[in-house]
Amino acid sequence: MYNLFINTGKELGHINPEIQGHFSEHLGRCIYEGVYVGENSDIPNTNGMRNDVVEALKEMKIPVLRWPGGCFADEYHWKDGIGPKESRKKMVNTNWGGVTEDNSFGTHEFMELAEQLGCKTYVNGNVGSGTVREMSEWVEYMTFDGVSPMADLRRANGREKPWTVDYFAVGNETWGCGGNMVPEYYANLYKHYQSFVKQYNPDKKIKKLAVGPTDKDYNWTETMLHECFRQQGSFPQNFGYMDGLTLHYYTIPYDWDHKGSATKFSDKEWYMTLAKTFAMEEFIEKHSAIMDRYDPDCRIGLMVDEWGTWYDVEEGTNPGFLYQQNTIRDALIACINLNIFNKHCKRVKMANIAQLVNVLQAVILTEGDKMVKTPTYYAFKMFSCHQDGELLESSLNSTKIGLEDEYMVPNLHESVSKGKDGKIHITLGNLSCTDAYDVASTLMGADIKSVKATVLAGKMDDHNTFDQPDVVFEKAFDDISFEGDKISFKIPASSIMHVEVGI
Ligand code: AHR
Repeated sequence: MYNLFINTGKELGHINPEIQGHFSEHLGRCIYEGVYVGENSDIPNTNGMRNDVVEALKEMKIPVLRWPGGCFADEYHWKDGIGPKESRKKMVNTNWGGVTEDNSFGTHEFMELAEQLGCKTYVNGNVGSGTVREMSEWVEYMTFDGVSPMADLRRANGREKPWTVDYFAVGNETWGCGGNMVPEYYANLYKHYQSFVKQYNPDKKIKKLAVGPTDKDYNWTETMLHECFRQQGSFPQNFGYMDGLTLHYYTIPYDWDHKGSATKFSDKEWYMTLAKTFAMEEFIEKHSAIMDRYDPDCRIGLMVDEWGTWYDVEEGTNPGFLYQQNTIRDALIACINLNIFNKHCKRVKMANIAQLVNVLQAVILTEGDKMVKTPTYYAFKMFSCHQDGELLESSLNSTKIGLEDEYMVPNLHESVSKGKDGKIHITLGNLSCTDAYDVASTLMGADIKSVKATVLAGKMDDHNTFDQPDVVFEKAFDDISFEGDKISFKIPASSIMHVEVGI
């Protein structure tokens, strides 16, 4: 029997909905085909956006969407993507397969998509090959309501009112594809560029994000913060010049040369992949410890704006398109990461899984007019109960399981919140690919009135295909009992449960 203790009286922090954010890049079939098919497509669409995909993402409660990259962001020139589509400039997408980008999906289309989804916007600016002026004008184009060259140009292109840009990043991976810079150099560029990301609307301030580290590059974090804090002097409004510092970490079963298959894996590979996912917690804790020294009140968020699994591409697909299948293993990896983000919600204020549709750990796959929801989709849907909730103190007497000393994981992994609806929400993952476990949960001090649960379960490599789209999905789970302040149930092997408790 495993005991899950929940202290219903101890709230540990607010869970920003953006922790469950997404990322869409001009990469492979993410934007084109995945989201945008154009107004003249036979695939049912609204202003070019696929109705099936938009509907599914709304149902999943997508809170924020990042665009246009990724590496693509640092070769994206936004003016090529506005105005009449027939006259938009074409370009080569050098990072992702060398394909022609016709710029038919640009700023207006992204904002249209976000409006249809009802989600916040996260726009990623170009530092690598763009100028300060170009970045500054983009912000003016999107957010200025008055009379100005860029606001007038936006109106001429059919949009009267400005949009809301919730988050704006100054570059992407400037330590790599975004310019191969050292942190000292980028810190100066960051301060320079962000000075011209103007706040045209004082009621809807843009949150500015600086490029942060990958994995365990603690020197990057230290240097960025040192450089950004050392001269803020008498201008406290420029607190570190940033609202967020980004972190990228991908789960790769083996290594960059041979990543491993998305669907064909052994029990050993299951545990190895899950164990590697837990590195996220160490990275968050160590980068947060550095941030705490500069910003003890957590005013600056650690934004994990790229995470997820990265496998070898599916056979017969373009290697530059990063198309991979998605199994129960991916759902558990999402569960681990989302639980970790919840538990660090004081510092982690946004996270964006890579990527939205048809790329890496996608929540949706499409083929022509067909669409499937992946196991990761259901994981996100189940976790949406935590959006805007208050994290509660919880502890679990889990045990270590695995087949190799190096790759042991806890058998169970949880996070718990008190929702806006007043209910207690438990998301619990069973990380064993073979064993079910009896769980008894005590909600200290609570008088439980109702319990409702759903489960996402299957064999470790179960997945949905275009021929069999409903192999894995969220189901009601009724075999659960409660009395006083206790709940008991048996969690199936390789599964995620969402338990909603009324008190
Ligand atoms: O998500 C795919 C790529 O991974 C992104 O473009 C880049 O930022 C990262 O290296």
